[in-house]
Amino acid sequence: MTSMRSHLCGELRPDHVGERVTVCGWAARRREHGEHLAFVDLRDHTGLVQCVVDGAHDLRGEYVLRITGTVRPRPEGTTNPALATGEVEIGECEVEVLAEAEPPPFPLDDRADDVDETVRLRHRYVDLRRAAMQRNLRTRAAVNSALRRAMDDQGFVEVETPLLIASTPEGARDFVVPSRHRPGTFYALPQSPQLFKQLCMVGGVDRYYQIARCLRDEDLRADRQFEFSQLDAEMSFAGQEDVLACIEAAVGAAVVAVTGEQLGEVPRMTWREAMDRYGSDKPDVRFGMELVDLSEAFAATGFNAFAGATVKGIRHAGASEATSRNRLDDLTDRAKRWGAKGLVWMRVEAADDGGVTLASPIAKFLSAEELAEVARRMEAEPGDVLYLVADEWARTAHVLGLLRLELGRPPVTEGGLRFLWVVDFPLFESVDEATGRPVPAHHPFTMPHAEDVALLDGGAEDLLSVRSQAYDLVLNGWELGSGSVRIHRPDVQQRIFDLLGIGEEEAQAKFGFLLDAFRYGAPPHAGFAFGVDRLVALLLGEENIREVIAFPKTQSGTDPLTSAPTAIDATQLEELGLRLLPPRT
Ligand code: AMO
Repeated sequence: MTSMRSHLCGELRPDHVGERVTVCGWAARRREHGEHLAFVDLRDHTGLVQCVVDGAHDLRGEYVLRITGTVRPRPEGTTNPALATGEVEIGECEVEVLAEAEPPPFPLDDRADDVDETVRLRHRYVDLRRAAMQRNLRTRAAVNSALRRAMDDQGFVEVETPLLIASTPEGARDFVVPSRHRPGTFYALPQSPQLFKQLCMVGGVDRYYQIARCLRDEDLRADRQFEFSQLDAEMSFAGQEDVLACIEAAVGAAVVAVTGEQLGEVPRMTWREAMDRYGSDKPDVRFGMELVDLSEAFAATGFNAFAGATVKGIRHAGASEATSRNRLDDLTDRAKRWGAKGLVWMRVEAADDGGVTLASPIAKFLSAEELAEVARRMEAEPGDVLYLVADEWARTAHVLGLLRLELGRPPVTEGGLRFLWVVDFPLFESVDEATGRPVPAHHPFTMPHAEDVALLDGGAEDLLSVRSQAYDLVLNGWELGSGSVRIHRPDVQQRIFDLLGIGEEEAQAKFGFLLDAFRYGAPPHAGFAFGVDRLVALLLGEENIREVIAFPKTQSGTDPLTSAPTAIDATQLEELGLRLLPPRT
């Protein structure tokens, strides 16, 4: 307790009956009770307690109060089982007003869920008083401390890396900070501590970790903020298995801290299988609706759109009746926006012979055998809707993967926590048609799979089939984290830079310090980072990471509380050697 109070509001129970207590907090609610008396619900971070106050006329909502009184049982029939303190109340109260308050800009009970988010963020300090936000902040703190303990226990050393650095190669835009001492030059804020943690390995740290703030100037979404936190780790003389085991231990500790349940074994899937079965490199395995390959069924088809393509389908079980023609047209439009040439749908109907028939605008172009084979492979039942896409492999998978989520994804609070390792990512994501250069899927320091190194000398197709020693951790369809075994040999690194078209000069300018460091003896090393905001949000069943960040930015990247970003004055600009262009029209 503190010198100002003897108890917290939410902890009073029948055991305390008869005790004289002092509690402090905010007046959550006042209800008149007869001529003189009023019930004042006093709130602190632990909950509410009912205080029976004589002469409470001056007390307004959100006044900060110190109340001293005697705990007593509530009169028969007035207990409130919905409240932890619902069996007692504080009577014979002396009330001290510690601070007056203007009426809050929005109600702080359950009704706050409907309040416009900008209003909540503008008055975040009031919003944070709500029970849901208190729970989220405290859970986040518990996760951070469980993560730290787990990493400490495994011999990892927490090292703080700098915030003012040169650019890091994570693929987003940098936030930059102008230098006053060297006008015309800029620091970049770290997109991650990637290069510094690798330097730590050269520096003999052996096992590094940090709960690191990272900054990326990218479009914001439900699972993305400009600033976020990673549990970032790196290990020496270690490979993929070592990293996976250590990260599982850390994530497992966070899961226990929040849910009390053990993580259990985290299943693994190769990237290829994830794409084939779920059409995504971050499959949400809380539900089925897997992609079924139909290419063989159409190997000799006369239907042009399917000939020579990868044809796959998904089955929306029992959905026919609820799926209107308008909805099918809408889904077709979406599939086109996602990159498909079209979307074939088929309604499954019962046939007279006890089997099924497939009703579809394109059925007339397919043979009876082809239709029967589709029904068989997709285990079609009357009342289902089947959706088929035909295209090159990656696009077919991608479009059906998105359609699967659209049709079947459960809400974030349902289906439990389904973790998954996705391994054997490709080294390159694509090959630029204009330059013939591959684009790295992770970052340029990722080690290719030992068996695939020879393919680095091949053409575009070979390059795209090079697997890397990179792995992701996925939770309920969100990418939770990524990592890889790093290249520690200068000759292999040079080979990758050559392929990426990063010339010696550019490599030296961008990562010269890392390459130099490697010349002084780099141990083999590997690492990982996962998003703490995302982990906490999913553990709490929140759809948006803003709910687990104390002071987040809005979707458009502004802070309604401080008005950031703001203009700076002319003197500051002058000092930094900056002149502004006229606003773009
Ligand atoms: P990566 O770029 O995949 O890997 O980032 C790791 C994890 O950080 C989280 N994350 C984000 N969370 C919220 N808002 C964002 N804008 C955001 N961007 C990323 C995600 C993501 O999976 N240096 C490598 C790791 C390594 O190789 O060791 C890296 O940063 O949960």
